[in-house]
Amino acid sequence: SRTYVVTGSASGIGATTTRLLRERGDRVIGIDLRDAEVEADLSAPQGRADAAAKTLQLADGAIDAVIACAGISAPIPATISINYFGVTELLEALRPGLLASDAPRVAVVSSMASLQPNSAEMVEAALAGDEERATRIAADLAAQGPETGYLVYPSSKRALARWVRRVSIAPEWAGSGIPVNGVAPGTVLTPMTEKLLSTPEGVKMVDAAVPMPLNSHQPPESIAHLLIWLTSVENTHMAGQIIYDDGGADATLRGDDI
Ligand code: NAI
Repeated sequence: SRTYVVTGSASGIGATTTRLLRERGDRVIGIDLRDAEVEADLSAPQGRADAAAKTLQLADGAIDAVIACAGISAPIPATISINYFGVTELLEALRPGLLASDAPRVAVVSSMASLQPNSAEMVEAALAGDEERATRIAADLAAQGPETGYLVYPSSKRALARWVRRVSIAPEWAGSGIPVNGVAPGTVLTPMTEKLLSTPEGVKMVDAAVPMPLNSHQPPESIAHLLIWLTSVENTHMAGQIIYDDGGADATLRGDDI
């Protein structure tokens, strides 16, 4: 049995991943705002530090895998804080625990949305580790109206995908035998999308942005199983990949452009 840390364990993809892991006998330390072993707010540095400390304590210092699902999609500055810094800072803080495992693994949840229009400036600020600047850019975009505010979420996921690409080959991760990868879902049926998909207009809007010719909207299990494989002992050589598990949305939108 392995010890997993799952963020966003109280809902949606994180909750499904947690359930599947526990059903097969693995231990899961969930991190979420509430209803989790570790209750913490990943939107701020202190919350991330507290979460890491408590998690390492519960895990007795040894963590086999981290699956980072916690995230929000609102067009607000907190989105870049939670979706980017709430993942990257937490992972850095949990790395000592991963180093104590025989087969440490990391997987994060990016999004199809990372391919949508985004703010290059915000992506750059995030990758530079400048949370203050990244959130200031997000606040400015949100203040200009919904059109620009909607750039915040894709920017957060684009930055996260690029972070995965960069660190996956770094000495601290690849050099320490830790595969780091990400999943990019299409439209997943979770509380995050429930309201949007509750009206025909909402469905039309979502499907225009994220066309899914294969089986349409996906259950959280479709992503959870992939996250579980990515963080399994069997994954010895996949590094820095963002896997589009999206009903064909990426293939539809990007076509030959890869
Ligand atoms: P969800 O809303 O069902 O679950 C997200 C969880 O993250 C919640 O339990 C929430 O409490 C937690 N969370 C939010 N802010 C937090 C914070 N500050 N500190 C700690 N925990 C926090 O959403 P869902 O759909 O399961 O999303 C999971 C991930 O998948 C997110 O990163 C999301 O961006 C991504 N994603 C979701 C898609 C969808 O269609 N549902 C599509 C593509 C990506």
